[in-house]
Amino acid sequence: MYMEKVRLGFACVLTCCFMACTQSPGSTDKKLETNVENLLAQMTLEEKIGQMNQISPWGEPTQIAESVRKGEVGSILNVVDPVALNALQQVAVEESRLKIPLIIGRDVIHGFKTIFPIPLGQAASFNPQLVEDGARIAAIEASSMGVHWTFAPMIDIARDPRWGRIAESLGEDSYLTSVLGTAMIRGFQGKDLSDPTSIAACPKHFVGYGAAEGGRDYASTFIPERVLRNVYLPPFEASAKEGAATFMTSFNDNDGVPSTGNRFILEQVLRKEWGFDGFVVSDWASVAEMISHGFCKDGKEAAEKAVNAGVDMEMVSGLYVNHIKELLNEGKVKMETIDNAVRNILRIKFRLGLFDHPYVDTNVPSVLYAREHLQKAKEAAIESAILLKNENGILPLTDKIRTIAVIGPMADAPHDQLGTWVFDGDKNYTRTPLKTLQEEYGDRIRILYAPGTAYTRDKQTSGIPAAVAIARQADIVLAFVGEEAILSGEAHSLANLNLQGAQSELIASVARTGTPVVTVVMAGRPLTIEQDAAVSQAVLYNFHPGTMGGPAIADLLFGKAVPSGKLPVTFPRTVGQIPVYYSHNNTGRPYQGNETLLDGIEPEAGQTSLGNTSFYLDAGNYPLYPFGYGLSYTTFEYGNLSVSSDRMKPSDELTVTIEVTNTGKYDATEVAQLYVQDCFGSVTRPVKELKRFTRIPLKAGEKKVVTFTLPVEELAFYNIDMKKMVEPGDFNLWVGPNSREGLQTSFVVE
Ligand code: BGC
Repeated sequence: MYMEKVRLGFACVLTCCFMACTQSPGSTDKKLETNVENLLAQMTLEEKIGQMNQISPWGEPTQIAESVRKGEVGSILNVVDPVALNALQQVAVEESRLKIPLIIGRDVIHGFKTIFPIPLGQAASFNPQLVEDGARIAAIEASSMGVHWTFAPMIDIARDPRWGRIAESLGEDSYLTSVLGTAMIRGFQGKDLSDPTSIAACPKHFVGYGAAEGGRDYASTFIPERVLRNVYLPPFEASAKEGAATFMTSFNDNDGVPSTGNRFILEQVLRKEWGFDGFVVSDWASVAEMISHGFCKDGKEAAEKAVNAGVDMEMVSGLYVNHIKELLNEGKVKMETIDNAVRNILRIKFRLGLFDHPYVDTNVPSVLYAREHLQKAKEAAIESAILLKNENGILPLTDKIRTIAVIGPMADAPHDQLGTWVFDGDKNYTRTPLKTLQEEYGDRIRILYAPGTAYTRDKQTSGIPAAVAIARQADIVLAFVGEEAILSGEAHSLANLNLQGAQSELIASVARTGTPVVTVVMAGRPLTIEQDAAVSQAVLYNFHPGTMGGPAIADLLFGKAVPSGKLPVTFPRTVGQIPVYYSHNNTGRPYQGNETLLDGIEPEAGQTSLGNTSFYLDAGNYPLYPFGYGLSYTTFEYGNLSVSSDRMKPSDELTVTIEVTNTGKYDATEVAQLYVQDCFGSVTRPVKELKRFTRIPLKAGEKKVVTFTLPVEELAFYNIDMKKMVEPGDFNLWVGPNSREGLQTSFVVE
């Protein structure tokens, strides 16, 4: 990579010792700021630059310790051994001149040891409390191993399933991402950042990374300021308001400016408009990567542009250490800029209480994989599963089932069901569907197993006949298919989203036996499964469900739990429809849904005989499954939608009520969703925007009146003058089970 060697051997100019300034609980920020200033006043330039330097272990531990001793390192990432960390911390707080503790970072993305569903899966729960609980557990486990800081939540709006990092996202919607992203921050940071079980959050990647051209990771984005402000920035603004301690810049360049050198987003938006007072870290080597972008000619210019834009800490490329001094001497960087960066970093170190408790206690019982953590991970996996199809109510399985054929490469894939970004989780703790079914039902039901293919990309078809043979003997086939963990996540983009390898052939072959097929998908992204769904009687979709995926799926299949997940992202029918998302603007010739598609076109049809609306001749515009979609074993009916008034002022609060009835046979939970359309604006507006959602537990036959309150000011957007305001006019409002269905009413804002 572009890593420049960290220059070692700075001379210590001052020799005085710093007595740790500690923040006692309840102390005011003023005291903390005084502590920061006192410390800053004693720092040499080299020590200041050291605080701005984050390293990943690059050599001998003794070399690293020497750097820490000299005050050349402010943060370390990717060390998770508590003994080694305590040893390094000891060097920092006992042997370095100013005794400033290190802040230890780690990617704790969806669990530390106990792995929860990938964030995209957690988003399908539409359950902020569950998401918060998951992050709390991750923080408890990670902090017990010496981690102070996670690089999460990832709150990039992701509207392109080719992009592998969609797995780490909370989906395509700005509001859902804001609600769930802030829930994660609360979970990581706990009630008080100085609690030893709290870890600093780092909303990332600031900003626009998910809009990578063509879904190719790291690719350029072209997001105009209005779209940035209306869609991509709100989750970050909500995170700043929630008190997120740090932010991470993104790899992409937007309209030609890499985020790591983007003064507008870092200085104007983040600091001036939102008043953020934590610190900003670059992404891995993203300062140096501004050279490849063609934005900087060398490491020195990259350091200059990053620090002047507002990147306080540099992750791993070492360019600040190598160049800031020279840049200061040349007047290209101001001392004030350096001081502000160091202030931001020290402020967070104080808030985390690192000066009070720099060490991790290694003499306490382990909290890793605690029973209640596993239980919560199972709950999360249950609520994250989305039932996409259930023909003739084939699910849940009844006690009439005598023989089950378990097939597919994901039935027993302990590593792969954990998903991407699992650095610490151990696959030996994973409970797979096959093992769970054997353990929990093996005494009553004959469970036959023939995977058909060895792994998801396996193109060999030689195992398919064995799968077909067990399908013939069974009452039902459970086909576990999907993606291996390596196929999603960073730098893992795909151009084809069909099931990989011979999986579709496997499903089709067993389906031809006539035995009903329940397809259970485990994947890191929406896949184009139209053909597979068509030959399956039921489809249960799980974004990689984590450690407890097996027990969660078994409970769902047998009706001990009822599916309640809803799609946090649109499922395209085919890759060519991408980007496809529910909250798009309208064209002047909107798709009607009844257009003649390819097969209906007469030979030599006249040029205008098909009409002139906006759609794909071969695929239409509707996705396979819309945002917000997800079935249950029961049925729900929505009735009596009403709004408090059909004429509102911008300062009013709208109250929306609706009756939701469980009209089926199972106790279940429905996620009711409220969408609004601002019909006419000074700029065109999305056809629908999610504004509220709520989970409603309903016993079979039960009816509840659900009330939503929505301040009209939440309908504000950045208008033609780039001012955030509610524009008077007509609005439509829907409440329903997904972004395509629901009861509709309207109101006017005067
Ligand atoms: C990723 C970040 C991650 C960082 C540290 C980068 O490659 O983009 O999301 O936090 O590495 O591991």
